Amino acid sequence: MQKKYKIVVLGPAASGKGTQVEFLIEKLNLPNISVGQLLRDKKEAEEYMRKGELVPNAFVNELVKQRLNQPDTQNGFIFDGFPRIRIQAKYLDTLTDVTNAIHIKVSDQEVKNRLSGRRTCPKCGNVYHLKFNPPKNNELCDDCKIKLEIRDDDTETGIIKRLEIYHEETEEVVEYYKEKGILIEINGEQSIEDVRKEIFRKLKI
Ligand code: AP5
Repeated sequence: MQKKYKIVVLGPAASGKGTQVEFLIEKLNLPNISVGQLLRDKKEAEEYMRKGELVPNAFVNELVKQRLNQPDTQNGFIFDGFPRIRIQAKYLDTLTDVTNAIHIKVSDQEVKNRLSGRRTCPKCGNVYHLKFNPPKNNELCDDCKIKLEIRDDDTETGIIKRLEIYHEETEEVVEYYKEKGILIEINGEQSIEDVRKEIFRKLKI
């Protein structure tokens, strides 16, 4: 029987969570649960997200619970950006058993460099970087051919706030999975392809 992967991907803003999750969903044929993406469609979350603050727990947890109730998650899933605080990690344990936690590590300076060049497609969510992963045609999405956008929270204050939360809260979640013995540490300061290889090698896929 094929192994069930129930993976959470942790890391600061711009560590490459979204970029690497794309490779994982293709390889493992599992649904991607990007909590940031789920929240971007919700009016209630807009103001918190623009400032780089966490969206209130009760709201996020309910969204996660509903998503995990959908049948496509029964054979496994990959969470991008959840959990970010210890109580979310504990809550997730009441819903399911996480098999692997991948922590992509990058320095604060690298986060700042990357976010200034990030562009996303407003239609399909594809993520590009003007220097490290440029679109083929000017600033248009390779697939949808529409103009790429800068995310609302990729401002100086938004970035500083997200880094602060990562150091104060999410690093505790990393410890939580380390204590459980399911943590995989990844050096995020390599090329996109080398980060992918390190993740695949350590997951043995
Ligand atoms: P979310 O959308 O998850 O944003 P984030 O955590 O800030 O992470 P990013 O999407 O900015 O970065 P990423 O790590 O996915 O990197 P990417 O692959 O894009 O969350 C947004 C907000 O939602 C939060 O601030 C909060 O308000 C709310 N929220 C989310 N989850 C929540 C929760 N659990 N509880 C409460 N609130 C929650 O890459 C970044 C750039 O770098 C790209 O341009 C990419 O091309 C480039 N890049 C990637 N890898 C490399 C590499 N190896 N070398 C060079 N460039 C690279």
